[in-house]
Amino acid sequence: MASYDSVLARLARVGQEHLLRFYETLSPAHKAQLLGQISELDLESLPGLIERYIKSPAASAPPTDIEPVDAYPHDAGDRRKPWDRARYRKLGEDLLRAGKVAAFMVAGGQGSRLGYDGPKGCFRAGEVSRRSLFEFFALGLLGAQRRYGRVVPWYIMTSPQNHGSTIAYFQEHKSFGLDPASIMFFQQGMLPSLDLSTGKVLLARPYEVATNPDGHGGSIAALSKSGAIDDMVHRGIEHLSYFQVDNPLVRTVDPAFLGLHAGAPDSSGEMSSKMIPKVSPEEKVGVFAMVRREGRRSLDVIEYSDFPPALAKETTPDGKLRFNAGSIAVHTLGVPFLRKLASDPGFELPYHRAEKKIPHVDLATGEIVQPQKNNGLKLEKFIFDAIPMCRASIVLETDRIEEFAPIKNATGVDSAESCAAIQSERAARWLESLGVRVPRRSDGSVDAVLEIDPSHGDSPEDLRDRVRGLQVAPGARLVI
Ligand code: UTP
Repeated sequence: MASYDSVLARLARVGQEHLLRFYETLSPAHKAQLLGQISELDLESLPGLIERYIKSPAASAPPTDIEPVDAYPHDAGDRRKPWDRARYRKLGEDLLRAGKVAAFMVAGGQGSRLGYDGPKGCFRAGEVSRRSLFEFFALGLLGAQRRYGRVVPWYIMTSPQNHGSTIAYFQEHKSFGLDPASIMFFQQGMLPSLDLSTGKVLLARPYEVATNPDGHGGSIAALSKSGAIDDMVHRGIEHLSYFQVDNPLVRTVDPAFLGLHAGAPDSSGEMSSKMIPKVSPEEKVGVFAMVRREGRRSLDVIEYSDFPPALAKETTPDGKLRFNAGSIAVHTLGVPFLRKLASDPGFELPYHRAEKKIPHVDLATGEIVQPQKNNGLKLEKFIFDAIPMCRASIVLETDRIEEFAPIKNATGVDSAESCAAIQSERAARWLESLGVRVPRRSDGSVDAVLEIDPSHGDSPEDLRDRVRGLQVAPGARLVI
């Protein structure tokens, strides 16, 4: 282990020696813990990051030359860009049957908005079944494995803050029936959290540096470093179905999307994305657009805060938003593309700033401060910043109610409550299309709490045999 003197010398070179302020007061175990933690940090990049993101942050110049993206429409018959859904679905199913597809879930976030004590994936997503988010995805994958007769390996990114508890949860639930040998957990990197005004690294406790996971964009380096990419190559995996831990309606694997990614004439098979039409110019989602930078036009995701407001309001002659392609953070990633990026010494995703309230040790008193306003800066990388690095990248439109009900907040928008309402609405649609009567209130909302077991499939047809003769009484609570 690194000695006190060598750690102090490294810290002094980057102006962060205050991290050892309380060293002399610590127990031998805590001394070792602190030296060990600091030794693992990439201290040498700190001065550059502090200069760029705290001392002289460049005002983020919104892109000026932007065009809407030519997405594959949800209705494959739409004359804007008709496509053969059955053909691409078959292509995706063939890839699944050939064992060339794995799922990749990012679950390393801190989930601070939800305020839940534990990995977010353990949070309840089933209003009736009480199933957790993790269980929803596991059931989705179990169903896919049954349908396509092949294992769909599952790569799960955690962070050092929730790695142990995530694995323990899967063990406790016997991996929900999946083969543990086809689930691989790996950890993402951590970055020091910084004081917003000085750039000094914060201490979480006298013996612990305050750190944060390096964003879902950290997954590309983590996939490579952990050996996950080698494991994929060994298993013959060519495509990854990427999703986040907070959206229980996600299709853990979607054959039509996989098929388009792998076979559409305008796809490079490197990275593809799903979008939903935005409901209003102000909706807080990133927007897919074609952006020209340095003479090259490429697909990009523009964060809502960076999107020029006048453009966000523009409409087409039929009254729709011209820039309506809202990102739902669902992608397909080509394994060779990830390998190429991860092995390129010049590969780097940019950092994004997130100002947060970060509890920390007061260096004068040694007491823990719980800030009332933002005092700290988290730097994070985002996976969608890899999109402009593709040779070409396609976007598929999907239906919000069918595939998007994230749980981000404790209440209100994007909460467990809104998620349950969307799940009921989706289930009602499916049942009604199969001729089952579903009670609705006078405002049209479903007068029941309905949930679909994700292992059954991804379309109403998959439920036909199960719902014959089903009666749904007003106020019923049902898992179908
Ligand atoms: P969010 O942007 O919602 O962040 O992550 P979060 O950390 O989970 O929640 P808040 O902002 O603190 O409330 C979107 C997805 O990316 C994953 C999350 O686990 C979630 O699936 N993620 C985020 C990571 O895996 N690592 C990160 O460093 C950040």
